Amino acid sequence: MGTDAKSPLPRHVAIIMDGNGRWATRRHLPRVAGHSRGVDAVRSAIETCGRYGVRYLTLFAFSSENWRRPQEEVSTLMRLFMHALRNEVGKLRDNGVRLRVVGRIADFDPELQQLIRDAETVTAGNERLHLSVCASYGGRWDIVQAVRSLLATQPELAAAPDSIGEDDLARHLALAFAPEPDLLIRTGGEQRISNFLLWQLAYTELYFTDLLWPDFDEAALEAALAWYRSRERRFGRTSAQVAAG
Ligand code: IPE
Ligand code: IPE
Ligand code: MG
Repeated sequence: MGTDAKSPLPRHVAIIMDGNGRWATRRHLPRVAGHSRGVDAVRSAIETCGRYGVRYLTLFAFSSENWRRPQEEVSTLMRLFMHALRNEVGKLRDNGVRLRVVGRIADFDPELQQLIRDAETVTAGNERLHLSVCASYGGRWDIVQAVRSLLATQPELAAAPDSIGEDDLARHLALAFAPEPDLLIRTGGEQRISNFLLWQLAYTELYFTDLLWPDFDEAALEAALAWYRSRERRFGRTSAQVAAG
């Protein structure tokens, strides 16, 4: 990859990790085998982002709508999540990764909730890479909880709605600690957002690939980063304005 200073790497990469089930089905394996291989791809994405100096990596692991899946698949996913937390947190801690799990944590069983809290505490001092795993997360849920949180902390705003600005609400979103994503990657061939970061994706560059998530390796992520660097981000301005700085 080139090192053109004019085209920086993304500070924040968000990924919709899709295609685990199809990866397994194509191999005549149960869907869970795909989820399990998906964990390997997560490890690789974290390592590659760390190496390239990406500061924020946000992964969509389980949506608020994924609870609709067959109960057996849901419970297997929860077991995998617990297994990954138990096995990977030490490595994250040692590699400067700060882990946050973002979403409706109260939906999970108490044992998983405790593992999440422990993992967040153990890695809380790190800042090389901010890793957010979105679980029981939905973009609409996030906006509604932000409204509730804003009004709970500043109840006087209910009587003065005209005084509420975009930044006031944004401060209460679940990912308020991070800049908005520069690059969104979705694997698995679908070209949709599936209720991921609805507010924060307003000006994000969107990258869709047919690769299934377990096949999304280091080279695939590097290709996405290179594509990102070729984009001109205008944020509503003209190309000439952007060129003039
Ligand atoms: C993404 O892979 C992982 C989760 C949503 C938990 P899928 O399980 O959606 O895989 P496909 O889309 O069915 O292939
Ligand atoms: C999106 O994938 C959610 C995650 C990757 C966690 P889905 O497989 O749930 O999305 P749809 O249902 O195809 O839109
Ligand atoms: Mg899917």
